[in-house]
Amino acid sequence: MTSSLSYADLRRDLAGMLARFLPSEEAVAESWRWMDEGLGKPRSWMLAHGEDAVPGAEREQVGQWIRRRREGEPWSYLIGWAPFREKRWKVTRDTLIPRPETELVLEAALEVGRRLGVTRAVEIGTGSGILGVCLALETDWAITATDLSPAALAVARANAGAQGATLTFLEGDLLAPVPDPLELVVSNPPYVAEADRPSLQRELAFEPQMALFSPDAGMDHPTRILAQARARGAKACVLEIGAGQGGELCRRAMGQGWGKAMNHQDLAGHDRILIALA
Ligand SMILES: C[S@@+](CC[C@H](N)C(=O)[O-])C[C@H]1O[C@@H](n2cnc3c(N)ncnc32)[C@H](O)[C@@H]1O
Repeated sequence: MTSSLSYADLRRDLAGMLARFLPSEEAVAESWRWMDEGLGKPRSWMLAHGEDAVPGAEREQVGQWIRRRREGEPWSYLIGWAPFREKRWKVTRDTLIPRPETELVLEAALEVGRRLGVTRAVEIGTGSGILGVCLALETDWAITATDLSPAALAVARANAGAQGATLTFLEGDLLAPVPDPLELVVSNPPYVAEADRPSLQRELAFEPQMALFSPDAGMDHPTRILAQARARGAKACVLEIGAGQGGELCRRAMGQGWGKAMNHQDLAGHDRILIALA
């Protein structure tokens, strides 16, 4: 970076530095995220103030971020929050970083729950709390959210408080801590196959491994959730699933006694949502 640096220079320098370890299109997009989410200088601000000088403290902050980002640490962990459904969510290394495609799970759960007229829903593996908290904010259902990780639950509770949502958090394995009756079960469970580990982006090594990996080619957690929800009389189960898992998980759901199991794909054409109905 040069001695007198404008915000426009900084943004360009950033894109160049990020391009040393990211594909160039991603580097450009991420440089704009740094300006907006990190420094509070969105594109609209940059249009009018791009030639303003960057204060030393901000240059120092960006230098620190660059050093950590170069090691592979995801951007959202550097700033401590991530966007989801146009809201800011606290994230830590104990929680998965919310992914945009998880909004499809939320939309599907809202649609299925409203169609069935449910009055309650359970989210399994709440992590940062995004699904459970959005369900609590967007419905009048009684929401329970669980996780095996107490550290993740602490973050989810903080997010619920910050968003003004009322829901119950329980610690434990899948549906074990949740009392009957069950109506709608929603989850974005761990579903990455161990065999895929070597080919994954290096950023994933910074996320909690228990949030990502599941035995049985990534299908152990989804299969157990479906089985427990069915055995305990849930009316429906809505799950985020991995690419290529839809056919097998639908077969397993039907084998468990669900009346109907549907696999929906995301915009990239990958299996993404499984809906099982009693
Ligand atoms: C893929 S993350 C989903 C986090 C969040 N719901 C989201 O969509 O961003 C899966 C979550 O499941 C939790 N988890 C893993 N195994 C679990 C189990 N056996 N019972 C309950 N939660 C579990 C992890 O701690 C993690 O928070």
